Amino acid sequence: METKFDKTVEILFELKVADVMRKDIISIGPSDMMSQLKKTLQERRISGLPVVKGSNLVGVISIEDLIRWLSDGDADQRVEEVMSKNPQCLYADQPLIHAVKKFDQFGFGRFPVLDRESGKLVGIITRGVIINGTLKKLEKEYKEEEIRQYRASHFFGDISADQKKVTLKFKISGKDFDNAGKASTTMKKNLKRMGIQPDIIQRAAIASYEAEMNVVIYTNGGVMQYTITEDKLSLNVTDSGPGIDDIEKAMQPGYTTSESWVKELGFGAGMGLPNIKKCSDKMDLQSEVGKGTTLKIEILIGEDHEVK
Ligand SMILES: Nc1ncnc2c1ncn2[C@@H]1O[C@H](COP(=O)(O)OP(=O)(O)O)[C@@H](O)[C@H]1O
Ligand SMILES: [Mg+2]
Repeated sequence: METKFDKTVEILFELKVADVMRKDIISIGPSDMMSQLKKTLQERRISGLPVVKGSNLVGVISIEDLIRWLSDGDADQRVEEVMSKNPQCLYADQPLIHAVKKFDQFGFGRFPVLDRESGKLVGIITRGVIINGTLKKLEKEYKEEEIRQYRASHFFGDISADQKKVTLKFKISGKDFDNAGKASTTMKKNLKRMGIQPDIIQRAAIASYEAEMNVVIYTNGGVMQYTITEDKLSLNVTDSGPGIDDIEKAMQPGYTTSESWVKELGFGAGMGLPNIKKCSDKMDLQSEVGKGTTLKIEILIGEDHEVK
């Protein structure tokens, strides 16, 4: 409910008076007889209308004016003698929220809409057209969101069999703390766009971020590559040294060789590799001292993937 209300208010700011106003204006002339007004209101089933001379607005007249005239007016009176002059108007380029405020403020049934430059009458706005216009826009946005979600969930269904694979590749520079984490955040955005399940994205993001930080902190740089297929997300991180001499030890929770300045930055608690393992369905870490390290992980993304 809360979000829907917010959305409606947002739409009232987005839409312009011109977007929803009625352009097929039913009007009457100032020198027309009041009996003519009665006929028009009855025939067109409306409760009021603008009084127009040429294309200039000179007043508005409503069913209330007609009732007053019926009870104590002269039979041969003209519209201009009964109408309200200098009516409250709206401009076509105003946000719709102005119209809503004006209805609240004055309690009238309709407002003439003028073109700001020419001052000419270009439309009529009633509460009814505001409601219709807002609902139409809400419906359109809802449909667009539905389509977007449909596309996302059918991402793989829409591409042909031999192309059921998406690869993203990033270069990671060693010791470049300004850009540290960029590869992981870019990947996260892409996974979201593809409609990958949020719990998978979360796990992938954690594993990716820890792996990326290790390359930034401990190595001279490397490459991070994501491959997304229908059933799994594979992450491959390769760096060019210095390598890890005891992988078993490095994998232990709390083990770290990080220097104090790294710890001061909030990294180096020795939980990176254990976290990567926890977030993956499969993990393989290979390293050669002096050459480099390759980390490969897989996260299953099929319908029946295990929720961790
Ligand atoms: N790509 C790598 N190259 C060299 N050493 C690494 C690499 N990744 C991790 N290490 C070593 O493994 C240790 C543990 O890594 P990790 O579990 O991520 O914890 P932390 O980064 O907090 O130290 C690191 O302190 C480092 O010595
Ligand atoms: Mg680490």
